[in-house]
Amino acid sequence: MIFPPAPKNIEKAAILLKNDGVVAFPTETVYGLGGLARSDKAIRKIYQTKGRPSYNPLIVHVDSLDQALSLGTFDRITLRVIEKFWPGPLTVVVPLKQPSLISVGATAGLDTVAIRLSNHPVLLSLLNLVGEPIVAPSANASGFLSPTKAQHVEKCFPSMFILEGGETEKGLESTVIRSYEDRVVILRPGTITKEHIETSLGIPVSVVTETPVIESPGQTLQHYSPTLPVRINVLSPLEGEAFLGFGQTKHKPVLNLSPEGCVVEAAHNLFSFLHMLDDPQEYRAIAVSPIPHTGVGVAINDRLRRASTP
Ligand code: TXA
Ligand code: MG
Repeated sequence: MIFPPAPKNIEKAAILLKNDGVVAFPTETVYGLGGLARSDKAIRKIYQTKGRPSYNPLIVHVDSLDQALSLGTFDRITLRVIEKFWPGPLTVVVPLKQPSLISVGATAGLDTVAIRLSNHPVLLSLLNLVGEPIVAPSANASGFLSPTKAQHVEKCFPSMFILEGGETEKGLESTVIRSYEDRVVILRPGTITKEHIETSLGIPVSVVTETPVIESPGQTLQHYSPTLPVRINVLSPLEGEAFLGFGQTKHKPVLNLSPEGCVVEAAHNLFSFLHMLDDPQEYRAIAVSPIPHTGVGVAINDRLRRASTP
């Protein structure tokens, strides 16, 4: 059920959470499926609901820098990055400081923890009301398309308590980073890009995208998939394919991620358009135009490459 984000509904969501329940809410990236970070019961329910493999740890959402500092050990580089980009679509992986505050299920038993301070007013009010960290993976069945609208969550989990927040602003999951000595490694690309971090802070950044060693356990190759097969870097779609365009295209697309060729706009539209085209009655596959591999395009191509992996 979808509820407007009126104070009484945010209070209801907070009560559900405090009773070890699970609720869905908007963030600026995608909708999340949340539970209290220290509740073994809520975390079991999140993994079960999503059908998520237990080795894939969750992101802990906090309401302040202080709360973040109580959970993890932040080195100088990570502090500089969050000073610049928090609150926002950025998650940092740091050594776990107080294991007692977080259920081992949330970190999948690792000695590090992924922490994020979102700027979404609904999530921030919810965090304030519950007064403690909330873990939240994206509110979709594991491996499938991420939700950028409350309706996407409802389609997947019809009986879930969902706070409405309209279409999410960014459209892609947060950038996940980790620092190593004097550099930053992007474990999952997002709308905060390598260039953003390098130019604003002068810190060298590398992107892990195709490592055979899985540094971020959620970065399995097949992920973010619609039910239809996806073909990428397509200039000429085949008979029966739904063509998802970008910029100027030779063939008329069914939908265009950004007619002007803007990667930020394309990121915002990506999951929502894939949800719309994912109709086996109508099409036999989804064919997507090439996306420039610059800026946010790196994150879009990361998701598309995984979506197109059988
Ligand atoms: O935008 C987002 O980040 C959304 C919203 C709801 O906040 N959440 C999200 O969560 O995308 P999820 O569970 O779908 O992705 C979490 C990612 C996974 O790739 C996971 O492996 C990685 O974060 N992660 C979590 N803890 C980690 C850790 N200790 N070390 C490395 N990677 C970690
Ligand atoms: Mg996810």
